[in-house]
Amino acid sequence: MLTGASAGMGREFFKNLQNFCGLDEIWIIARRADRLEEMAQSSKIKTRVVALDLTDRQSISVIEDMLRAENPDIRILINNAGFGKLGYVYELEREAQMNMVELNCASVTGLCAVCLRYMQRNSFIINIASIAAFAPNPRMAVYCSTKAYILSFTKCIREELKPRGINALAVCPGPMSTEFLDVAGISGGKSKTFETLPYCNPASVAKKSLILAQKGRAVYTPRFFFKLYRVLARILPHGLVMKFSKT
Ligand SMILES: NC(=O)c1ccc[n+]([C@@H]2O[C@H](COP(=O)([O-])OP(=O)(O)OC[C@H]3O[C@@H](n4cnc5c(N)ncnc54)[C@H](OP(=O)(O)O)[C@@H]3O)[C@@H](O)[C@H]2O)c1
Repeated sequence: MLTGASAGMGREFFKNLQNFCGLDEIWIIARRADRLEEMAQSSKIKTRVVALDLTDRQSISVIEDMLRAENPDIRILINNAGFGKLGYVYELEREAQMNMVELNCASVTGLCAVCLRYMQRNSFIINIASIAAFAPNPRMAVYCSTKAYILSFTKCIREELKPRGINALAVCPGPMSTEFLDVAGISGGKSKTFETLPYCNPASVAKKSLILAQKGRAVYTPRFFFKLYRVLARILPHGLVMKFSKT
């Protein structure tokens, strides 16, 4: 099962799943049904289009009902759907900020809870966090907080799932040139930090995430620069880190 399949890294995950460990079927979830239908038509593997808005809690119930009816053996769950918004909490639209929490945190929690009932030994979960999880980023307060949740949540469930032989991997990429930047209002030189940072390649992040999740890794941070940031953010006071992590 793959969320956020219709764009960016989700599309890259979808391409990689075509040749990964012999899946019988892939369920792809996002709001834009037209894009998902197009992808399903080009798929080598049977693909089910599940067009849902994951900020709506009813959507998780819909998926829960579908799983109850199908009783599948879920080998891979990829919680990739997510979005951010650049701006101060007191300036950004309230609804968008609350939806960010719904999509980035609540839907991931709900899908893990529901899908794990159908996952057996050697299956795995990939949850997409971000380098934003390592330290607070002023002007992206809600986004970085949601990703900190994902990093912590994924480490916790990984520990819980060890006796069941199921892995959970948190992926923490730096910036990637996807629709994310437009959706977040970052494009067009609105953030100096995003203009200065090195970029990650969504195709290689997706490919390596699958390999590492299968190998049992806990956290994947692409690029040496961001690995270093992760270490610094752990040892330095966040009051200091925030002086240069401001987006
Ligand atoms: N790009 C970056 O700089 C960056 C860096 C670090 C981490 N990330 C994380 O990487 C993941 C993938 O992002 P991306 O860069 O590939 O972004 P993207 O190109 O904007 O793709 C986001 C995906 O999420 C889906 N989505 C958005 N809102 C949704 C909703 N309400 N319900 C269901 N699906 C929804 C979108 O599909 P629809 O619009 O069709 O619903 C789309 O398929 C996200 O979790 C993001 O936070 C991105």
